[in-house]
Amino acid sequence: MQTLRDIDSVSRLSQLWRARNLRLALVPTMGFLHEGHLSLIRLARQHADRVMVSIFVNPTQFGPNEDLASYPRDFARDEQLCRQEGVDAVFYPEPAGMYAADHSTWVDEESLSGGLCGASRPGHFRGVCTVVLKLFNISGCQLAVFGRKDAQQALVIQRMVRDLNVPVRLLLAPLLREADGLALSSRNKYLSLAERQNALSIYQGLQEAEAEYKSGCRDAARLCEIPRRRISQAGGRIDYIELVSQDSLQALDPVKAPALLALAAYFGKTRLIDNIFLD
Ligand code: PAJ
Repeated sequence: MQTLRDIDSVSRLSQLWRARNLRLALVPTMGFLHEGHLSLIRLARQHADRVMVSIFVNPTQFGPNEDLASYPRDFARDEQLCRQEGVDAVFYPEPAGMYAADHSTWVDEESLSGGLCGASRPGHFRGVCTVVLKLFNISGCQLAVFGRKDAQQALVIQRMVRDLNVPVRLLLAPLLREADGLALSSRNKYLSLAERQNALSIYQGLQEAEAEYKSGCRDAARLCEIPRRRISQAGGRIDYIELVSQDSLQALDPVKAPALLALAAYFGKTRLIDNIFLD
């Protein structure tokens, strides 16, 4: 496995692979890898001849009062996990190498980015789209894998790829959870034991809402109220809970499949996101 820190060596390696007709899949991450990330790597493996993982805590997708500085990092461990997974190359850029001091070009998706996480994190998806397109261009990948944990992010990137004719095929991987239901996330590291226990209310609430949906309820307010109450009772602070269309992310009431029940909630200072598909 090669670890590459500068953009030119990534491009050179990718050109070499392309010349040999080897298909490259990229798995973009911000590191502090967990099983969710590893499931993306395994999916990439199944569809490509070479797998590259990028590890970059992208400053442009963090707001001024967010956790950029404290975002968990452990490159040595990440590198080891990638090696174990048979990754061919890790791209671990120097932060200064990714953005020129006078960087002034942005990719802004203007429809799907507005609601849900985009409403509480202004500029977040602009940072995500910009870095993802840069990573696609640097790596020259033919495939890229994203997780449904970040359902809105996956949709926004799909839209960007379609709208800008980006020659990359996207694969989406299912959301992976801990055995007790907590969605795997690098940010789970911030949770105290008690907060982690309380955060189980997120998936419990989502499951209860799903059961209610399956038993025939189509009232969006009522379905959102179920996780809202559960999470609040457990001491969580809701950022948003919404029932939206899976394609347009527009609010749905009455609920019509395919729908997405998505939420963000704080436990202590930690903002967690989760979602469930209602098909
Ligand atoms: P990060 O949060 O590190 O996530 C990298 C990828 O792993 C994303 O596609 C995310 O959806 C996926 N992922 C995270 N937790 C998951 C889980 N529990 N189950 C399945 N997939 C999971 O998302 C980002 O980084 C950044 O925004 C990035 C796309 C790298 C751009 O900077």
